[in-house]
Amino acid sequence: MPLLKALCAQLAGLALVYGLLQAGSLATAPAWMLVAVQAVGACATAMMLGSERWWWLIHLMFTPLLLLAGQLGIAPGWYLGLFILLSLVYWSTFRTRVPLFLSNRATVDAVAAWLADRPAGQLLDIGSGIASMLRPLARRFPGWCFVGIESAPLPHLAARLLGRGQENLRLQRGDFFARDWGDFAVVYAFLSPVPMQRVGEKAFAEMRGGSTLISNSFALPERTPDRIIEVADRRRTRLYCYTIPSRKTRKGR
Ligand SMILES: C[S@@+](CC[C@H](N)C(=O)[O-])C[C@H]1O[C@@H](n2cnc3c(N)ncnc32)[C@H](O)[C@@H]1O
Repeated sequence: MPLLKALCAQLAGLALVYGLLQAGSLATAPAWMLVAVQAVGACATAMMLGSERWWWLIHLMFTPLLLLAGQLGIAPGWYLGLFILLSLVYWSTFRTRVPLFLSNRATVDAVAAWLADRPAGQLLDIGSGIASMLRPLARRFPGWCFVGIESAPLPHLAARLLGRGQENLRLQRGDFFARDWGDFAVVYAFLSPVPMQRVGEKAFAEMRGGSTLISNSFALPERTPDRIIEVADRRRTRLYCYTIPSRKTRKGR
């Protein structure tokens, strides 16, 4: 939906310029003015469509930056190369609206301290990126099995290379929503606000009673965490911990 709105806004900006050119209003205008009119038209359309504010800035900058880049004389192959590279890193972000960013060392330490009190089991990182959470945990807790599911090819490949030789680390490529979470004592998520409703529904439907969902930074809507771990890092990370109730008590929730 946001992408469709963005496309509509850009097309509306182009249609505005085309209309004004046809009417003769911009017939002698320099290129930069055509671009400015397109950008303002696209931005105004995005506002009317209710796009989030950061899209307004993107629309204002999009065609001006295209014009600028066109004047730099960079060979087209570089743009294609960069596009392919970014696609392999961000893959389905346009659909999932979960970009790649990594759990930091302090958060890994906080999760490790929390795990240290628990009997060994399996931990799943949904959207494991380059396994910045799983690789250090797998080294510290040899009795645990750490599983990561990641959809984007390049982070997945990097995780496999960086984690090679770690026997208790299993990395899979795919969609974590397509996998059953019932085998895991802990599910760790560091995603975005967008999928959290679905993540909560799946966790509470599939995970065993007594297991835990830990969400880095993004709380589940309409559910109260059993515990919030405050991490002493610069971004003041909060880990929202939800203990999954037994199946009997779950029905009433
Ligand atoms: C914010 S990163 C977190 C990476 C890692 N968990 C960490 O803490 O460092 C979220 C990752 O989730 C991946 N992702 C988002 N939706 C996904 C899905 N449905 N299935 C698999 N991976 C997904 C993205 O590609 C991205 O790499």
